[in-house]
Amino acid sequence: MNPPLHRLIIDTDPGIDDSLAILLALAAPELSVEGLTVVSGNCTAAQGCRNALQVLELAGRRDIPVFKGADVPLLQPLLIASETHGSHGLGYAELPEPAIRIQPEHAVSFLIQKVLENPGEITIVAIGPLTNLALAIRLEPRFPAAVREMVIMGGAINHGGNTTPQAEFNVYCDPHAAYIVFHSGIPITLVPLDVTYQTILSKSDVLRLLENDAPVSRFIEQATRFYMEFHAEYQGMEGCVINDPLAVAITYAPELVDMKNLYVDVDISGGVSMGKTFADFYDFLKRPPNMRVALGVHAKAYIEHFLDRIEPLCITQST
Ligand code: RIB
Ligand code: CA
Repeated sequence: MNPPLHRLIIDTDPGIDDSLAILLALAAPELSVEGLTVVSGNCTAAQGCRNALQVLELAGRRDIPVFKGADVPLLQPLLIASETHGSHGLGYAELPEPAIRIQPEHAVSFLIQKVLENPGEITIVAIGPLTNLALAIRLEPRFPAAVREMVIMGGAINHGGNTTPQAEFNVYCDPHAAYIVFHSGIPITLVPLDVTYQTILSKSDVLRLLENDAPVSRFIEQATRFYMEFHAEYQGMEGCVINDPLAVAITYAPELVDMKNLYVDVDISGGVSMGKTFADFYDFLKRPPNMRVALGVHAKAYIEHFLDRIEPLCITQST
């Protein structure tokens, strides 16, 4: 008897590592991806919708609905990461014009409707700025109690920032949204840079996927080549940090990380540490933990798992 599927909504700013996360979710027999909700971040929400539709078509999954969400953060000015993900968000990859279209409903309406119609069933994997989730929480007070779990790629606890010296991109883009989500009461698993910066995809990993010359492997090579050039130029790294797929993998393989229950908050005071996430390791604030935080990762096993799961997406296409 197979265990029940994990039913996911992925809230995303696709984005190169977002597209890898979406492909990993589609390749996972443990998961049912019930929709993608798009937010501005790595690229605009409009471009992100186009990218999401293209990636779904690439994977042969036109059945999955895509919904456009917030164009701008709650209060902060819009910040787009084109230097990291390219002018249209998928690096050097050029995918065909999507034949499918986004859904007419707003992403926040879809999130609320799907979660309230399936109380305790839907896991939200949030791999972009948290604006859509914060709006859902504010618009529908019943939303937090009905969410099964939220796995958030975001923040940096004992690790430096990747957008300011202190702050990680998803949280920095909309720290007020992160504050609302962190204090919503939703069961949260946080996947910060502390673990994702250990998950490096190398050129040889990509060459392994390219052994099967297929649209998915060609896409991954073109998208990650841009991303690797960014990491080399800006961070002196070989390879690229694939942040987002780890959040997907944890929904069905939590043993890949070591987690700790902690009280975590985010700085919204507007100073130099705006968007900094911090954990109260020594209970100074006397507040109960509000999330599980992944602070350790079995990085080699995870990258191997990622490649093992993605490879069949390439093989089926090349036969
Ligand atoms: O800081 C990394 C996160 O910001 C990832 O989700 C990446 O895609 C960007 O959204
Ligand atoms: Ca992302």
